[in-house]
Amino acid sequence: MDGSHKNYCPRQIRGFSPAGAALNASYIKCQTSAGDPATPARSPAMTDTTRSRSSVTMTVNGTEQQLDIDNRVTLLDALREHLKLTGTKKGCDHGQCGACTVMVNGRRVNSCLSLAVMHQGDEVTTVEGLGSPEDLHPMQAAFIEHDGYQCGYCTPGQICSAKSVLEEIRAGIPSHVTRDLANVVMNDDELRERMSGNICRCGAYANILAAMKQVAEETA
Ligand code: FES
Ligand code: FES
Repeated sequence: MDGSHKNYCPRQIRGFSPAGAALNASYIKCQTSAGDPATPARSPAMTDTTRSRSSVTMTVNGTEQQLDIDNRVTLLDALREHLKLTGTKKGCDHGQCGACTVMVNGRRVNSCLSLAVMHQGDEVTTVEGLGSPEDLHPMQAAFIEHDGYQCGYCTPGQICSAKSVLEEIRAGIPSHVTRDLANVVMNDDELRERMSGNICRCGAYANILAAMKQVAEETA
């Protein structure tokens, strides 16, 4: 939003009237004197712009990256807007679709829910870091072989999640559908449950499952 409106008082806009219009008063600048009780004093911390930015260093796809960013920037926006790694997609931007899934220190995360400044020293892997067109990761190749996508928007997140899911099962990490916590097995229920955070509007779920099962067998 253009910050140029910040000095105009909404009370005066709400109080718009024909008489006021005659005086062209709808955009009268708000009084900001200390005597105006409706104008709270800003704390030094809020006005200290040096505190709103941080320097953070993380390794992204094997390359160390140093960023000087606003503390409010999400990991997703840091990847897409600052590092130009646009493979990771923004769907809902609040943790509901999984399109923004990346791996941080080997575990999948929704990068839209994580602030970049929280990742000092972390290892981040995006879909670009899994493989290249000339040397695809087995999960990328399996998605192509099984038509695990249509529009492809959710696909980077699906692939990152799918890769992580196989690793989670092999590590014995249980899910909500695990029957025997001491023996986590690879089956369709486990794969579907663990991929349930990755929404595909095109409905490629059956093909994604087939791709995952193929990779699970190939790498067993
Ligand atoms: Fe992050 Fe949807 S964009 S979960
Ligand atoms: Fe289109 Fe999943 S392939 S949303």
